[in-house]
Amino acid sequence: MLAPRLSIDPFDEAFLADPYAQHQALREAGPVVWLEPIQAYGMARFSEVQAGLRDYGTFCSGRGVGLSDFAAETPWRPPSLLLEADPPLHDRTRGLMNRIVSWQALKAIRPVWQERAEALADRLVEQRRFDAVAELGETYPMLVFPDTIGVPVEGREKLLAYAAAVFNAFGPRNAIFDRGNEQAGDAAEWVAKACKRENLSEGGWGMAVYEAADRGECSADEAERLVRSFLTAGVDTTVNGIGHMMLAFASFPGEWQKLRERPHLVKRAFEESLRWDSTVQTFFRTTTMAVEVGGVTIPAGSKVLLFLAAANRDPRKWEDPDRFAIDRPLGGHVGFGFGIHQCLGQMVARLEAELVLAALLKRVKSIRLAGEPKRRLNNTLHAIASLPVEVEPA
Ligand code: HEM
Repeated sequence: MLAPRLSIDPFDEAFLADPYAQHQALREAGPVVWLEPIQAYGMARFSEVQAGLRDYGTFCSGRGVGLSDFAAETPWRPPSLLLEADPPLHDRTRGLMNRIVSWQALKAIRPVWQERAEALADRLVEQRRFDAVAELGETYPMLVFPDTIGVPVEGREKLLAYAAAVFNAFGPRNAIFDRGNEQAGDAAEWVAKACKRENLSEGGWGMAVYEAADRGECSADEAERLVRSFLTAGVDTTVNGIGHMMLAFASFPGEWQKLRERPHLVKRAFEESLRWDSTVQTFFRTTTMAVEVGGVTIPAGSKVLLFLAAANRDPRKWEDPDRFAIDRPLGGHVGFGFGIHQCLGQMVARLEAELVLAALLKRVKSIRLAGEPKRRLNNTLHAIASLPVEVEPA
């Protein structure tokens, strides 16, 4: 059977401004669709997305997780040794990085991160009105994450524009991609330098990757590229994760009251906000062989776009999926992916969100939107440029 052919372009500006408006059409058209404008397959239902993520042998990452097929085109940058790698290489690099981003490492940084979250919350609650993106979503990760990796202080604000440009590059070379590159300026050069051993501070996770190289777990060149993964994946994702968590609470005020009554739901609230609005909206895979999905044969060598965010609101899986509900039964969303590539930094993101939320919860009685949120268009991330909120102190 052939996949239904759709004229939906998942990278046009109207789609990216409000992807949720189109997800239903994608899901309802079938388990697999052919997206004419990008000449690629797409899957938007939860069970097919999850199955695709699980089956890394058929749906590979080594040919790129963007629209560009590395078997046919030269990658625009040396591929990631994690995100854009398949086993056995991926097993080795991921094992090494998992040992660095460990539970013990997070336990060690928690007190400092908590102190910074509390101080920031103090300041914002005193202000009452603030931009939950510029003054919180962007500020907090930048207060904690670059120090943890150990990158130079000077110029680290470039990490935001750099990450935005990289996430744009998983889509087509459209106007959003061009604008992102312009805004990034020399950020890629700054990041390349920041990843070098001589520019990383002792005791940071960046240096820990080079120490793994000293032990023979990877080469020095690989170490440099693995540090780059931290810097690419670790900032804009959490920035928008925290931003959407705040948007969720401002849009569903009853959930803040629920959380005040049941503060033990803090961690779950962040998970639910990621399900409700998944910052990482999509990633591609490439088929290594012909595969049948829901009666449709996808030929070998096809690009398949996995709509993680659409899966996270699939009514086949979630009851009343458009509602943000912090006490929803835990369901295993795919906002951090699934399977062997599931987010390396998920514990980092969870810790940041938990500390920010717990610090606000102690101080804030209610949160409301104080202006229209503004979107920032990105080919992969659902991103917010500005989110004016007003809080009432507890
Ligand atoms: C809310 C924040 C975050 C979200 C929503 C998120 C989302 C994701 C998703 C969906 C994937 C899977 C990609 C795939 O299957 O192709 C992923 C992978 C990855 N993430 Fe995150 N991420 C977040 C934060 C972070 C942080 C803080 C770091 C760094 C410490 C990080 C580092 C990575 C890396 C290196 C990978 C590739 C892993 C692999 O291929 O084995 N992420 N992330």
